[in-house]
Amino acid sequence: MVDFATDQAVIGVVGAGAMGQGIAQVALTGGLHVTLYDLDAAARQRAGEQIAGRLDRLVEKGRMAADAAADAKARLTLADGLDGFANADAVVEAVTEDVAVKRAIFEQLEGLVGPDCLLASNTSSIPIARIAAGAKRPGRIAGMHFFNPVPLMALVELVEARETTPETLDALAALAQRMGRTPVRVKDTPGFLVNLGGRAYVTEALHIVQEGVAMPAQIDAVMRDCCGYRMGPFELMDLTGIDVNFPVTEIIHRGFFYDPRLRSTPDHRSLLDAGRLGRKTGAGFFTYDDGKPAEQPVDLVTNAEPPAKIVLLVDDPELTDLALAAEIEILAADDGESPIVTALPRGRDATQAAFDTGVEPSRLVAVDTEFDTSKRLVVMVPPGADFDSLQSVAAWLTASGVAVTAIQDSPGFIAQRIQAMVGNLGCEIAQRGLASPADIDTAMKLGLNYPMGPLELVDEMGPGRVHDMLMRMQQITGDDRYRPSLWLRRRALLGLSARTPD
Ligand SMILES: NC(=O)c1ccc[n+]([C@@H]2O[C@H](COP(=O)([O-])OP(=O)(O)OC[C@H]3O[C@@H](n4cnc5c(N)ncnc54)[C@H](O)[C@@H]3O)[C@@H](O)[C@H]2O)c1
Repeated sequence: MVDFATDQAVIGVVGAGAMGQGIAQVALTGGLHVTLYDLDAAARQRAGEQIAGRLDRLVEKGRMAADAAADAKARLTLADGLDGFANADAVVEAVTEDVAVKRAIFEQLEGLVGPDCLLASNTSSIPIARIAAGAKRPGRIAGMHFFNPVPLMALVELVEARETTPETLDALAALAQRMGRTPVRVKDTPGFLVNLGGRAYVTEALHIVQEGVAMPAQIDAVMRDCCGYRMGPFELMDLTGIDVNFPVTEIIHRGFFYDPRLRSTPDHRSLLDAGRLGRKTGAGFFTYDDGKPAEQPVDLVTNAEPPAKIVLLVDDPELTDLALAAEIEILAADDGESPIVTALPRGRDATQAAFDTGVEPSRLVAVDTEFDTSKRLVVMVPPGADFDSLQSVAAWLTASGVAVTAIQDSPGFIAQRIQAMVGNLGCEIAQRGLASPADIDTAMKLGLNYPMGPLELVDEMGPGRVHDMLMRMQQITGDDRYRPSLWLRRRALLGLSARTPD
């Protein structure tokens, strides 16, 4: 087998669509020889021109030397049949997402390429085992899942099917690095790593809406402002398209035999049924005018006066500082009329906090100070709460210069729920041995732009706190969706990092 890190290897690419072109381009810029084939001769020709055009633009932008671009172009060969791959050291298949078409290609390739040539599929959703089934040498077949647009997305998932040998994965990792990509390894599992790990963020947001806790725009604002995500879950789903993310969610849920952690909601499907597919159809969770989402109110705006006094149920430095700055008196005992403020009913809802402490629920206002509170604070009250307490607390917090989002009672507000679920799913992926802790974190940061990997997030929040949140969320809802992963439980109980291997 050639050493992809250094040798003048020949890479075959089957399919010259969006992905095949990108894969060919990064192989060329990585110094490899590329043979590109597409069934459609016109598409093949066009792909050759488009790749050359993109290399020229890299030169114009000063990102590539002119002679290097000329050299890269000279290393591209357009083949007019699969027999053009006879001398390939590895072939990456990126044709239409159809298992029968892919299997036929792998079958033909097996008869054409040398015994050491590696065969990889860029499939997004077909199990590699299904493509490799019946192959003469399944050990050399793996998934090599690139992300769109390939030249801009550094991540590549190397998918290890049942029969894939460690040597195949090692060689593909070297090949990915030669292409300037960052490889992560994952077992052949529904959704591979990024699509599987990404389910928590969107499905928990959908459950929050389903419970009537908050509107999509409010959830998006909280996840951007308090947790540093570049996009909220609903704008993300509208961007990728409901026709993509609903079926992906359904396939993964089914693939894990209906694990409730991966479950979506009827709202999600109904958008698909209604043809509200997101930005591309002008409507999804939001409606769009000229590509811009229609404004939705996310902040609580109030003319109320801030309270003169509050009862602070917990010792929370942030709320204490905010009260002192606003010259609000913090009462040592309930005076029977002032708002009762509590922070962090961690994983609990305001109802549970009132029940546990025995305070007057109608004046209780819970504030989430768990994450970044510099731009936005989330408040919630139990059912039957008195509107005045909420309004006056909101007036106080707004006057301190932050936006306030008021939601219905919820175990763990918005951010705790979504973050705990993102972390828990990362832990479960590690528990099942689907990928290493480091690769889980890398994949979610590079593939989905998460500010932190799921396991890094658990460590940042504290494994014990995340475990506690989930236990309470499970207890309050009675929903096994929230059951903590054993990976998390063990590390929480032993005081270990979430990244501690078994
Ligand atoms: N587009 C994405 O965002 C994305 C991301 C990751 C993975 N993928 C996967 O990559 C693969 C390709 O996706 P795409 O978006 O590039 O599709 P595409 O439709 O842009 O291109 C597919 C190409 O394959 C060619 N083709 C079809 N049958 C062929 C055959 N038998 N032999 C040779 N060529 C054939 C078609 O002519 C077409 O040019 C799919 O498996 C897809 O799931 C896509």
